[in-house]
This record gives sequence, structure tokens and C-alpha cells, in this order.
Amino acid sequence: MMKPHVDNLWLVALASKCKSLSPSHTIILAFVFSLSWLILNMIFWAHPGGSAWGRYRWAKLFFFHRAIPGPRGVPVVGSMDLMAGLSHCRLASAAESCGAKRLMAFSLGETRAVVTCNPEVARDILNGSSFVDRPAKESAYELMFSRSIGFAPYGLYWTTVRRIASAHLFCPKQLKASAHQRLELANMMAEALDCSGKEGEPICVRNVLKLASLNNMMYAVFGRRYVLDSANTETAELRDLVEEGYDLLGQLNWSDHFSFLADFDVQKIRSRCARMVPRVNRIVGRIMAERDTTGLDFADVLLSLKGPDRLSESDMISLLWEMIFRGTDTVAVVMEWILARLVLHQDVQSRVQHELDAVVGKTRAVTESDLTDLVYLTAVVKEVMRLHPPGPLLSWSRLSIRDSTVGGYRVPAGTTAMVNVWAISRDPDNWPDPLSFKPERFLMGEEITDLRLAPFGSGRRSCPGKVMGMTAVSFWVARLLHEFAFEAAGGVDLSEELRLSCEMKKPLAVRVRRRMN
Ligand code: HEM
Repeated sequence: MMKPHVDNLWLVALASKCKSLSPSHTIILAFVFSLSWLILNMIFWAHPGGSAWGRYRWAKLFFFHRAIPGPRGVPVVGSMDLMAGLSHCRLASAAESCGAKRLMAFSLGETRAVVTCNPEVARDILNGSSFVDRPAKESAYELMFSRSIGFAPYGLYWTTVRRIASAHLFCPKQLKASAHQRLELANMMAEALDCSGKEGEPICVRNVLKLASLNNMMYAVFGRRYVLDSANTETAELRDLVEEGYDLLGQLNWSDHFSFLADFDVQKIRSRCARMVPRVNRIVGRIMAERDTTGLDFADVLLSLKGPDRLSESDMISLLWEMIFRGTDTVAVVMEWILARLVLHQDVQSRVQHELDAVVGKTRAVTESDLTDLVYLTAVVKEVMRLHPPGPLLSWSRLSIRDSTVGGYRVPAGTTAMVNVWAISRDPDNWPDPLSFKPERFLMGEEITDLRLAPFGSGRRSCPGKVMGMTAVSFWVARLLHEFAFEAAGGVDLSEELRLSCEMKKPLAVRVRRRMN
């Protein structure tokens, strides 16, 4: 993993000479050693952006380039506090107070990081050819995600697996082929809401949404079908694994940022990962063995690959598991935010239902081919993703593979970069009246092509599951709103909780009334 810094080695060499010294000389030397270490670290820390940036500039004599503004944080530790809790809010207010919304430098222990709250600078990061890698994360490595698309280093393996997934999982033909499964799940969701809300009982929609999106991915990946509302040990186990994986990958791991902690497992992340991997292998292995091979799902495709595209068994498991993992929570999180906003803004909900009645009528159910005519619903989905992007910092940071220029500043290779899409969408410079929920802003005829709205990221490492995710979200929301009117059961609390995705802190509880029979 990380290596000790060369600039500290002379101090170690000096200390090794202590053996031949008298006790008083040893004490003096220890004092000189500590003082030098302290002075050195104070010099590094005094640099804008803190210790990691200072150390780099001194080691590489990188003084000719303009320094990127940013908080110093705490000596040695840097600004680890910025990444705790709702880090998108903390980073946005730090950037505001440093006058560094375009680009802010900060240190996470030994890691040099930058973050932007500006859509043009975001383009430099996301769409260029420099920030195409992902920073190494111990949890991702331990969970075998380093062989999945999202965390694989930029190179031949990543290109190969991304190409295979684009051609066989995310392509229009495959999406069309799985439409009947989304329809079946929409029927099951409607039935589940009907049963649970019969007597005007409050319903916690999160469970239904997460199970539906898990089932959706299990079908696309393994051709596996489950009944939505039955107590099933396999889906319970899968849900538990997705939750645990989210928790592990979302945690700020100090070992990722301090090389001296690399051998310890202070936060017990490594041991939790070690317990999780055999569980994933067992369940995926069992499902693979029990499958009936129809040749239609993604697992079949991977098994049939030949020549240089042929993947090892563990690489296959990593890729298949990534799809379940990525595709389950993101879709459910977006849907819960949409329903929360529609419950809160009843006028918007009525307008969506008017549109559904006009386009679909009241005698048949919504189909996916109706979606292109549901322009107001599309605007609602975009407005929710603007205000509540599931990845406010795009979930996974980028890592630069070469020196580059970002927002007019020189940024060295090996720097971690984040884009604060949450701050970009709430900035009055980018959106008029940004905090108001106004789907109409997307009906003005202007297609947003810049990065003022980028919930799926952009560039080479943008989300390959965008169309798949958006089809499920839009179709299911349309279907539910066509059949039911939603009201809040108690209040709607829009507070956020950031794990790997940003979800509602308090799960949404609703009451439903049937609109159609
Ligand atoms: C509404 C749903 C979704 C949202 C909001 C979302 C968002 C994102 C974001 C922000 C990224 C990082 C992009 C970047 O760095 O520029 C990403 C990457 C990724 N997403 Fe999604 N995603 C969604 C659905 C899905 C689905 C359904 C799948 C697969 C089944 C998926 C698979 C992936 C993968 C594999 C990557 C890594 C791409 C790479 O590093 O090359 N996503 N997603």
C-alpha cells in the first residue's frame, strides 16, 4: 500500500545512530529529532490546502505554480473532519469561506485532494483524460471491487469489462428484453401498496422500493425471480450484503490516508470485509450453480466469453456482484426522494397525474413506451435529481494519472478530485431560485448539456447504468402515481444521511388511495 515518505527517512537514519551515544546525547538527539519533525510538519502545514499539499510542493519544488486556495486543517491530520457526516455540505461551506468554489485544495492525512463547486471546472476534471482513475480504497480492494468496473484502475482490464457490460447489459436490446420484468415488478409493487395500505395504514415505501430494485437487478444479472412481498431468506441475505457493502465502502477509512495505519485495522473495516467476502462468494456461487441457463442474463454472457475477453471466476463474481450492488440502492434512493417531494408538493403530484390521465387514460396501465410523452414527469425526475443527487460528491472520487490544468491551476498526478454536484445545483449562479422545487424549470425548452446537472457524472468514467436506472425509476414512478394518490403519514423530513448514496435520514411513510381499479 502506501510507502513511508523519503523526506522523513534521514530522521530515521539519524535515530539509528543513537545506540552508540551516551544517554544525555540520546536525549538531546531525540529532542532535535522531535523538534525537526515538528518544524518540518509546521512548514508543510502552513501551505494552502494543508500538510499533504505542503509536503508535495517541498519534495517536488513545485513552487512555480500558483497555489490552490484551501483550508490547512490540523497539522499532519489535515481536514479529515470535512469528510465526516454530510461531507458535501461541509466541503461546500469550507469552499465558500476560503473563496475557493472554483477549486479548493485540502489534505486528508497524506492524501492531496481537490474539490470543485463549479460546473466549468467540473468539466476539466470529469471530461478530461487525466482524472480517469479511482483512488485506492482498502475496503474496495478487500471486497474484490478492484476487479469491478467502478474501482478497476484505468487500463486494459477496465476498458474490457466496461465494453463487455455496455454491449451485453446496458445496451438498448437488453433493456428492451427486460421490460417485461420491470412490468411484473410494477404490478407486484402496486399489489404490495394495495395490501399494506388497505385500511389507510401508513406504509414505509423504502422496503418495497429496495426489494423491487434488488429483484430487477437479480433478474438482469442472474435471470433470478422472487416474489416481492414474501419473506425470502435469499433476498434478505442479499439485502443485508448490499447494506453492509454500502456501509463499508461509504466509511471514511483512516488507513486509506495514513500509511502508518496501514498495518492496523483500527476501525475494524478489514475484518468486516474479510467476513463479508466468503458470504458474497457463497451466495453468488450457489445462485450460479442453480441457474437455468437461458442465455439471456449477464451471467450467461460472461460464462460464454471466449479468448482475451474470458474472465476468471473471481473476476466474474466481482463484476456480477458490482451490478447488484450498484443497481439496487441508487434506483430505490432516487424513487424515495421523488415520492417524498410529490407528497410534499401536492400540486406537482396532481399535475403529474393529470398528465398521466391525458397520455395514458384511465382504462389501461402505463407502459414504458408512454414515457417519452410524459414530459412533466421527466421534468419532475430531473428536478428531484438536481436537489437530491444520490451521489452528491458523485459517490466515487477520481484520481489523476498525470499532471494537468484544472480551473487554471496546475494539479499534480496522484491527486484525488471530487465534484460537489450538490453544491453546483444549489448555487444561484447556476440556477435561479435554486432551493425551490420547480420542475417547470426543465420545461423551458433549453436542454441542459453542461455540468450544472450531472447526477450520473460525466466523461469516460460516467455511470454506464444511467439509462437502465432512469428507465426503472421513471416507469415505476409513473405506474405508482397513475394508480395511487400519495399523502404523507406524519411529516416529511427532507434531512439527508450520506453513506455511499445520500438517502432520506427518516424513511418516508405514506398513505395511499387507489385512483384506478
Ligand atoms: C439512478 C440511478 C443511478 C445513479 C444516480 C448513478 C450514479 C453514478 C455516479 C455518480 C457514478 C460515478 C460517475 C463518475 O465518476 O463520473 C456512477 C458510476 C457507476 N455506476 Fe451508476 N448510478 C445509477 C445507476 C446505476 C445502475 C443501475 C448501475 C448498474 C447496474 C450502475 C453502475 C455503475 C458503474 C459500474 C459505475 C462505475 C463506472 C466506472 O468507473 O467506469 N449505476 N454511477
